[in-house]
Amino acid sequence: MSGRSLKVALTRRLPAPVEERLSTLFDTVLHDDDAPLTRAGLLERAKDADVLAPTLGDRLDAAFFEAAGERLKLVANFGAGIDHIDIAAANARGITVTNTPSVLAEDAADMAMALILAVPRRLVEGVRALEEGRFEGWSPTWMLGHRVRGKKLGVIGLGRVGEAIARRARAFGLSIHYHNRNRINPHIEEELDANYWDSLDQMLAHVDIVSVNCPHTPATFHLLSQRRLELLQPHAYVVNISRGEIVDETALANLIEQGRIAGAGLDVYERGAPNEKLLKAPNVVLLPHMASATVESRIEMGERVIINIKMFADGHKPPDRIILGLDQDRLPKAG
Ligand code: DGY
Repeated sequence: MSGRSLKVALTRRLPAPVEERLSTLFDTVLHDDDAPLTRAGLLERAKDADVLAPTLGDRLDAAFFEAAGERLKLVANFGAGIDHIDIAAANARGITVTNTPSVLAEDAADMAMALILAVPRRLVEGVRALEEGRFEGWSPTWMLGHRVRGKKLGVIGLGRVGEAIARRARAFGLSIHYHNRNRINPHIEEELDANYWDSLDQMLAHVDIVSVNCPHTPATFHLLSQRRLELLQPHAYVVNISRGEIVDETALANLIEQGRIAGAGLDVYERGAPNEKLLKAPNVVLLPHMASATVESRIEMGERVIINIKMFADGHKPPDRIILGLDQDRLPKAG
């Protein structure tokens, strides 16, 4: 099947150039309203389409694929994370799943680096103080944060985004530590002067700033559990732009409140919106899941979606198809 005869259903509004190109190439059903579809709405679209282009938040589980019927053949996800899709269930029904890796890595890394700088240097607290009229002139002892240069950054899941963060962090004088299931390419390890930690627990006890960059899978749910968060030194910070579920957010909020962790910079949350305690904590910078939110990233993500659908329509294997069992390197070791 090719071109205009292929029915492609979107589940969210995408950048205008992406929607225009999709509509030129395929019989595309747009979603004019930016609100996420209900489960019933998603199913209605999927049943009547050859390709569904969902995004994070659209829960495509086994029951969904069961109910979606026979027509659906490709799920071309707009986004890199695929924890909302049951890939095995899709594949079992002959449905290919693709995502949009790589194109957002640099922008996401910029945001992680911004958090790595913002939290120890109390950037948002400073802005707030000024806005609230609490700035009474420079003082030798007011608004003191902590130096970033010379600190140890521990990356959990050094893949594309983790590597891009590590490169930036090196330029700011941090040393790089990482924990993956498998070591990265020795040339890259050497270039980053990166220290591999076989034991996540030992790395956590050693570093000053932790950056969470592994994907969310059943194995990484609450990887940073209360027990592991307690291994951090009291001056340590946690930065997470991956998925909220990887960190036990309640434990993190409590430990920050108790002064047993120095602070956090978060772009993602376990339950969608941040924990109340985190919202009130001064030494925490919270962003509304915007690490990949640049015009450039979102258009390039759309281009990946289009390339994947086009290749599929032309009878080829889409380049970004998810193959279960591959790309496991940046997962943590079990246990
Ligand atoms: C993704 O692509 O999964 C990101 O979380 C979007 O920012």
